[in-house]
Amino acid sequence: MAEQYIVGVGAVIASLLGFLFLYCNSLKRFRGLRKLKRAASMEFPKGNSVKKTGNSEGVGTRDIIIVGAGVAGAALAYSLGKDGRRVRVIERDLNAPNRMAGESLIPGGYLKLIELGLEDCVDEIDAQRLLGYTLYKDGKKAHVSFPLEKFQSHVAGRTFHNGRFVQRLRKKVASLHNVSLEQGTVTSLIEENGIVKGVQYKNESDQVLTAYASLTVVCDGCFSNLRRSLCYPKVDIPSYFVGFILTNCNLPTKNYGAIILAHPSPIVFSPISSTEIRCMVNVPSEKVPSVSNGEMACYLKTQVAPQVLPELYDSFISAIEKKGNIRIAPNKIMAAAPHLTPGALLIGDALNMRHAITGGGMTVALADVVILRDLLRPLHDLSDASTISKYLESFYTLRKPMSSTINILANVLQKVFSASSNPAMENLQHTFLGYLRLGGMFSYGASAMLCGLCPSPLSLAFHFFSIAIYGVGRLLLPFPSPKRLWDGAKLLWVASSILLPYIYSEGIRQMFFPLTVPAYYRTPPKKGALLVQSMLKVNL
Ligand SMILES: Cc1cc2nc3c(=O)[nH]c(=O)nc-3n(C[C@H](O)[C@H](O)[C@H](O)COP(=O)(O)OP(=O)(O)OC[C@H]3O[C@@H](n4cnc5c(N)ncnc54)[C@H](O)[C@@H]3O)c2cc1C
Ligand SMILES: *[C@@H]1O[C@H](CO)[C@@H](O)[C@H](O)[C@H]1NC(C)=O
Ligand SMILES: *[C@@H]1O[C@H](CO)[C@@H](O)[C@H](O)[C@H]1NC(C)=O
Repeated sequence: MAEQYIVGVGAVIASLLGFLFLYCNSLKRFRGLRKLKRAASMEFPKGNSVKKTGNSEGVGTRDIIIVGAGVAGAALAYSLGKDGRRVRVIERDLNAPNRMAGESLIPGGYLKLIELGLEDCVDEIDAQRLLGYTLYKDGKKAHVSFPLEKFQSHVAGRTFHNGRFVQRLRKKVASLHNVSLEQGTVTSLIEENGIVKGVQYKNESDQVLTAYASLTVVCDGCFSNLRRSLCYPKVDIPSYFVGFILTNCNLPTKNYGAIILAHPSPIVFSPISSTEIRCMVNVPSEKVPSVSNGEMACYLKTQVAPQVLPELYDSFISAIEKKGNIRIAPNKIMAAAPHLTPGALLIGDALNMRHAITGGGMTVALADVVILRDLLRPLHDLSDASTISKYLESFYTLRKPMSSTINILANVLQKVFSASSNPAMENLQHTFLGYLRLGGMFSYGASAMLCGLCPSPLSLAFHFFSIAIYGVGRLLLPFPSPKRLWDGAKLLWVASSILLPYIYSEGIRQMFFPLTVPAYYRTPPKKGALLVQSMLKVNL
């Protein structure tokens, strides 16, 4: 009963706040949704845009070098190649990557694949449809379904082996005549007078080679060696994911991943093929047992296994016991802090990383590729590096709606899901689960953000406020005693102290007031106009 009352009060206050938010945002969102639907209907101009770019004369030999053919690099190479550009892709290892990162693509990312003409890359790899997650805590559960009703039936999340997906992307890249995909390790960027002119790399026979291009896009992933001169890397590693593959079992709900809010931190299960389930155990960085000496297996068996769903227990234990099955990867957080360098650009994990708990990394990378492709489309000539670099500065603001929403949600949720001994944190977990269970616009909106279908910082702020109101309401009812008021205040304090630093690191202005950022919209440079502009500048 009290629960219903809170829901009522929460709903009223949230609706008032929501009204304000909707008022400012409705137009924009409708436009966004229309665009998404268009993307989802797959009616893309056939023969894409080779013609639109037109004059391939201006596009000199190898206009663009792409370093790394992972998700970001391969998708970018394909879309630029399709636009008629001459692209050289240099990838360290063209064999299928074997890693446990990037195995679930949320629906927002699938829509980006459609926009890029790459949606068939999730076919023929035994990918599984992902429709949502079930959250478990202390025997209670909450279903979070992705809001997919408005889309065609093929639009959903997908889970798969990352290596199979990347190989499909690379195959599409290799099919384009104007794109060369070669194996080699880039060792450094070639810089002249502050302008990046190309790269130095070693080919398979260890021969040192150089390649030149008007624009070099670095997408060498989370362990990037090349980003140092292109951004201010400040990497935080709050936890590690310890992963292994379970066989001979099924998750309780078909097409739903499972997240257990365990102690001290969450466990995630998702089916990555028709016969395998990936389990990833989040282990806080302060206490990571060693895999090699068996301490990890012991930790998993004694501390983690008892918290696993009973139907998965046996498979969980045999997975741990299987030799070489346990892998470990750092969960890195790094805000995008680019250092504008003419002739070069950074995207993907090399530019920006968030905690992997929500599986948003590939979606941010693919969304970035779409933005970059669209920005580059009107440019025929990339030779004036300084002007192009200035024009492309808008990329870092245009990417904020998607990247900041997904980044902040992931980073905040990993903290909320990692129950510390702090009772306010425990409260926050219950609040979040309760909020999701409210259904309606609350869980709908939250899950739309989670799965990349509602890339909107304003929506993030709105849900934060309504969760806070709901949480405090829950604590105060039925009668607000001083202790309850105090607990409510603590809840608000903890919630804001988790959220605000992440908002700050994303940039308040770029997130909420993008129109005030000078670089928000820069018109594509035209040769003649540019000359006049630079002459004017000299005169001033
Ligand atoms: C544990 C974990 C789980 C994750 N789970 C998910 C998930 O479920 N869903 C999701 O969307 N994201 C997930 N992510 C994030 C996701 O993996 C990344 O966001 C995504 O792979 C980024 O793509 P990228 O192209 O930037 O980098 P990568 O895919 O890492 O590609 C980088 C490429 O560059 C190549 N390269 C590196 N250095 C050089 C060099 N010097 N010369 C030439 N080539 C080079 C590499 O060989 C590689 O092919 C997870 C991350 C982690 C750590
Ligand atoms: C490749 O480039 C040439 C000119 O450089 C152009 O005529 C041709 O259409 C391009 N091919 C593709 C597949 O984009
Ligand atoms: C590496 O480059 C050298 C020099 O261009 C070339 O002779 C050699 O065949 C290349 N090796 C491979 C494996 O491509």
